[in-house]
Amino acid sequence: MIDTQRTRDDGSTDRSDRIGARNLLEVTGLKKHFPIHGGLLGRLRGYVRAVDGVDLFIREGETLGLVGESGCGKSTAGRTIIRLYDVTDGEIVFHDPMLGKIHLERAGTAELRRVWMSMQMIFQDPFSSLDPRMSVGRIVAEPLVVNKIARGSELRDRVAQVLTAVGLRPEHVSRYPHAFSGGQRQRIGIARALAMSPKLIICDEPVSALDVSVQAQVLNLLEDLQNEFDLTYLFIAHDLSVVDHISDRVAVMYVGYVVEVAPTEELFRNPKMPYTEALIGAIPPPNPRLRSRPVKLPGEVPSPANPPSGCYFHPRCQYAQDVCKVERPPLRQVSPGHYAACHFAETLSLRGIPTLTSAVPAVTMATASSVTPTPAAPAVP
Ligand SMILES: Nc1ncnc2c1ncn2[C@@H]1O[C@H](COP(=O)(O)OP(=O)(O)OP(=O)(O)O)[C@@H](O)[C@H]1O
Ligand code: SF4
Ligand SMILES: [Mg+2]
Repeated sequence: MIDTQRTRDDGSTDRSDRIGARNLLEVTGLKKHFPIHGGLLGRLRGYVRAVDGVDLFIREGETLGLVGESGCGKSTAGRTIIRLYDVTDGEIVFHDPMLGKIHLERAGTAELRRVWMSMQMIFQDPFSSLDPRMSVGRIVAEPLVVNKIARGSELRDRVAQVLTAVGLRPEHVSRYPHAFSGGQRQRIGIARALAMSPKLIICDEPVSALDVSVQAQVLNLLEDLQNEFDLTYLFIAHDLSVVDHISDRVAVMYVGYVVEVAPTEELFRNPKMPYTEALIGAIPPPNPRLRSRPVKLPGEVPSPANPPSGCYFHPRCQYAQDVCKVERPPLRQVSPGHYAACHFAETLSLRGIPTLTSAVPAVTMATASSVTPTPAAPAVP
């Protein structure tokens, strides 16, 4: 488990004071279906319903964790929201600080280019997401150059500023990605996203490819940057134990749609959807002597090309009844701020746990400014 718990300078761990009242992003009924072609003539055989009706909103300054098992559509949802993919159906409303209310699902290329100044993405794999032929300086400067935001000394200053902000050194500009460790490469990816002074960053499993010891540093860096630059995050992870500390609220996704959303503490303590209960039960205990062994989720995740009828979770759900096989429950509010897609959300008595960070002692981790990059191999000339 990654332990990232830190107290603030004032001794509090409350993050709610930086969250605004306004929504920055509202996603309604979002669908992204990929066509499946087959046979000699390449005929259309069906669709992979990777995202099949996602509803969520994110407030200014908030971190919304998006979790679910591998293949449930988290990355596709993130990539569709930022419009790296076209939208099959649904609405994506982004309240851009400069451009105002934008319907991203129908935005054209020119409009998207402007929106991407306020909305950036950090990718899962720091090894493949950076062009190995480009120096760190060029990688970080590229979005500023392409969008004609800065040049000359102003550009150099901005690159040096964001590299420093992520715990790298300005002199790293002439080095190439292969000369850095995984954690340092992810810092370069974060610097590239930060260069545009975005409002919203979609973080697609930014730490899952990193060693556990480095994961906490990068998570803490993301938190520090959020406080310093008033950032809002959609933080994607397949593991509840990663989103636990960093998220203000958590959305749980299952085979293409969101099945539960609640403030983090509430979701952990008081799950209302059996899939969330199962994910919580599968978290390894912080101290194996104090808690029972994690429960393995039964069964396989259904294929998004051929999902089950009714509630998609019914073949794996120990509480399923006849209605579950025929009617897909909508995501609805079951208590203030707590949404669940289950026919029996109000009547089931599900098992939660205290959030992981409230169950383990606080440990002060290295912060962005105190991280010294490990000596890098000589740069490629
Ligand atoms: N470009 C594509 N064409 C066809 N199918 C795709 C494409 N991208 C993703 N898929 C399929 O869509 C589904 C969701 O994939 P996605 O990568 O969004 O899941 P994920 O939740 O991010 O998984 P992971 O945790 O492994 O990253 C999967 O079945 C995947 O095979
Ligand atoms: S709707 Fe039925 S199958 Fe789906 S989670 Fe609720 S009880 Fe289980
Ligand atoms: Mg993914």
